[in-house]
Amino acid sequence: MHAAVLSTADRPPVYAEHAEPVAGTRDEMVVEVLAAALHHLTRAKAAGAHYSSTAALPLIPGVDAVVRGPDGELRYAVLDDTAYGTFAERTVIDVRRSVVLPRDSDPVRIAAAMNPAMSSWVALRRRIDFATGRRVLVLGATGNAGRMAVQIAHHFGAGQVIACGRDAGRLAALTAVGAGETITFDKAGLAADVDVVLDYVWGEPAAEAMMAMLTHRADRGRPLTWVSIGSVAGPAAPVPSVALRSAQLRIVGSGIGSVSARDILAELPALAAAVNDGTIDVQARPVPLAEVSRAWTAGSGDRVVFVP
Ligand SMILES: NC(=O)c1ccc[n+]([C@@H]2O[C@H](COP(=O)([O-])OP(=O)(O)OC[C@H]3O[C@@H](n4cnc5c(N)ncnc54)[C@H](OP(=O)(O)O)[C@@H]3O)[C@@H](O)[C@H]2O)c1
Repeated sequence: MHAAVLSTADRPPVYAEHAEPVAGTRDEMVVEVLAAALHHLTRAKAAGAHYSSTAALPLIPGVDAVVRGPDGELRYAVLDDTAYGTFAERTVIDVRRSVVLPRDSDPVRIAAAMNPAMSSWVALRRRIDFATGRRVLVLGATGNAGRMAVQIAHHFGAGQVIACGRDAGRLAALTAVGAGETITFDKAGLAADVDVVLDYVWGEPAAEAMMAMLTHRADRGRPLTWVSIGSVAGPAAPVPSVALRSAQLRIVGSGIGSVSARDILAELPALAAAVNDGTIDVQARPVPLAEVSRAWTAGSGDRVVFVP
């Protein structure tokens, strides 16, 4: 079969012939890959840089995919650490880490959406107590995950969603998907009175936004829940002690590990339904897998989805 093969972490994978995957345990199944997206997690795991990665090179990257099994069912599958990822014509899935999709699902849309969308979906459903009417700030809203977070916060009944980012032009486009207000990082003080922050940025911009918001907050006794989901601006944020002492601020994280695999999987059918019925608008760019070397370094535009 053909696959994307990564032999060294400092160069993109190459499209090449590769041995067929083989199922091991009785929960494993060899499947045909229909669509597999290039997420931050995919690159981080391939580089051995993600906290959950253990696989050694060479490997086939790809952490999830829409696949078809020998039973003919369409599935969305998430892979554990493996040298046989989803950027291939065929791979091996653990059936217990997959969900069956409706037959009319669009594989490219589902593959593009599930990883970025589950970041806010799982955070709001499994990591915090999120009540209808809450005001939400999405920090780093112009990316795939942030854009979906705006929509998903609305889906779960947010009273107001403010989108924050560094690019005013890209922010403006978010009003079409439900952002009531859009602000750049230097104006974070304007979002001082939200109840929940979904933070994709972390690093210095998040710490600065946090202090600006706390400084301008009308009632610091009112709970503010800050959910760290991504860290595009840096792995560490210099949060001063006073931030935690001077307000009812609670900082939590949401991701693999802080939410169990079982709880994440339990959310996937409803999330897939929301993608299928258009509740969540998806920006996907299908690319032939043969072009993997060129597309590997794609930036933060439409999510690249490899089609073998
Ligand atoms: N915990 C989870 O469950 C989970 C799941 C999925 C993703 N994530 C994480 O969420 C983050 C975003 O993922 P994504 O799929 O949305 O990525 P993406 O589509 O590539 O978007 C990246 C976003 O980060 C912004 N950005 C990049 N560098 C920045 C900087 N130095 N300062 C401020 N903003 C910056 C970009 O802004 P511009 O538009 O201005 O370029 C864009 O909004 C990643 O860290 C990813 O690993 C976490």
